[in-house]
Amino acid sequence: MSTRDLYVNAGRESGTGQGTDGGGALAWTVPATGAARFSWEAMFVGQKDGSGRERLLNLYQKGKDKQWDGAKRIAWDLEVDPLDPLGTPDEAMSIYGTRYWDRMNAAERGELRKHYTSWQFSQFLHGEQGAMVCAARIVESVPDLDAKFYSATQTMDEARHAEIYSRFLHEKIGMLYPINDNLQALLGDTLRDSRWDMPYLGMQVLIEGLALAAFGMIRDTTDKPLPKQILAYVMQDEARHVAFGRMALRDYYKQLTDAELREREEFVIDGCYLMRDRLRGVEVLTNFGIPLKEAEEYSERSEYLQLFRQLLFSRIVPCVKDIGLWGKRLQQAYVDMGVFDMGNSNLDQLMAQDEEIAEKLDAERFAAEEHERVAEVSEAIAAGAADA
Ligand SMILES: [Fe+2]
Ligand SMILES: [Fe+2]
Repeated sequence: MSTRDLYVNAGRESGTGQGTDGGGALAWTVPATGAARFSWEAMFVGQKDGSGRERLLNLYQKGKDKQWDGAKRIAWDLEVDPLDPLGTPDEAMSIYGTRYWDRMNAAERGELRKHYTSWQFSQFLHGEQGAMVCAARIVESVPDLDAKFYSATQTMDEARHAEIYSRFLHEKIGMLYPINDNLQALLGDTLRDSRWDMPYLGMQVLIEGLALAAFGMIRDTTDKPLPKQILAYVMQDEARHVAFGRMALRDYYKQLTDAELREREEFVIDGCYLMRDRLRGVEVLTNFGIPLKEAEEYSERSEYLQLFRQLLFSRIVPCVKDIGLWGKRLQQAYVDMGVFDMGNSNLDQLMAQDEEIAEKLDAERFAAEEHERVAEVSEAIAAGAADA
């Protein structure tokens, strides 16, 4: 089946008219801005010049060492029930307890779960493609050669992530959602800006920060092994991406004027409100015949979603503070959103944990396989002894 056939709402008129729908086109074009920069000042891994660039080259080395293949590392033969891909409890559904929910039978509730997972993982997929394009843009536009080297490894990481989410949606869910209009708008703003730090800020800090928090919440709550593997392994890569964004921006923002910093803070504030209020999967509910206004109300009221919305900022707030965007207006915005205290959480610790979880999962899977192999061998030996 072609991807077009798997898309929900294919052919529907979208808000921006430039999405995957809007006349059914499965393409989107953003004109390029900014300069392609070359540097003749070549560094190599291991070369010491006493500057902070060694850290960047070490990250590049790590990026090379930690490449992996999604086709091999993930156990794609694990089965997934498309009507309950993540094991989501009833109470976590946004319309749980409403008359719409009460009216649904088990099959319809399964269908709703399928749509929600499809919507969520489709946004992950589209976000990963955005990350791939932004990482490639950074290769082109960032002034230093060592930063280009590192970003090239990240471009490959993001390609792997997009490939994996795409495969999950095609093979295991059988349904895709177009990119959310607001996610697309934020991505467009990020790409259209000619200042070289904006793809880092919009993509690495905001969109990826949000995605990382969402991945983490699902990774830590789902009891389904396939999505758990996918999320744990993708998150292992993201720890490097966040480290890179922090390193590059922290140094650069020290050189900016107050006015320039305030501009970036405004961008962060707008982006955060937009992601909090406009990325909730309301389009899933309207597909089930629930009027838009009601759908928005349910998403707003759902206790689970409120908690989810706050946790979504657990990676962004400490990162923004760390890179030096911590002016009064931004602080006030985070107080209003109820996420100000997250600025104190330890990002390094969270990242180290992400790596550990992925490695532990590998170790467990390896031990289980080894156990099976040993059992097979002793069976074969026993069978051989019985024959003799
Ligand atoms: Fe990614
Ligand atoms: Fe990433």
